[in-house]
Amino acid sequence: PAEQAVVDAVLAERRHLAGALLPILHGIQDRLGYVPPGAQPVIARALQLSRAEVHGVVTFYHHFRSEPAGRHVLQVCRAEACQACGGEALLAQARERLGCSEAQPTNAARSHTVEPTYCLGLCAQSPAAMLDGRLHARLTPARLEALLAATGE
Ligand code: FES
Repeated sequence: PAEQAVVDAVLAERRHLAGALLPILHGIQDRLGYVPPGAQPVIARALQLSRAEVHGVVTFYHHFRSEPAGRHVLQVCRAEACQACGGEALLAQARERLGCSEAQPTNAARSHTVEPTYCLGLCAQSPAAMLDGRLHARLTPARLEALLAATGE
């Protein structure tokens, strides 16, 4: 399958780098949008790591997804400054509004993926989030609702 071809190509390109695991995972996610769970044993074999080591790294970094994202991706900052300004409540609001959860970041309609993220560099204007690659600062529940409504889904 196409997935396998991408994994093989990234491995061929990057397996000889020092500390190749992260560059390989980034390369796969950049091209596919996620790291297929089936790629983990293949990567482990290529780098002579255990499957548990590869799995541990994939799950440690919130950046890596194990399945394709929805058509819109909302990342809500969960780091300190944003937490102190209501970031958690915005995350909960988005999940509830869109039918997403921590365990199931992409909703059943596959219209949206809601993910926590850890500092978007807008701490002075928190709480912050990123929707489809665009940053939004000083969010309020009403502004978040308007942004989500504007995705038209
Ligand atoms: Fe949220 Fe830095 S803590 S942008």
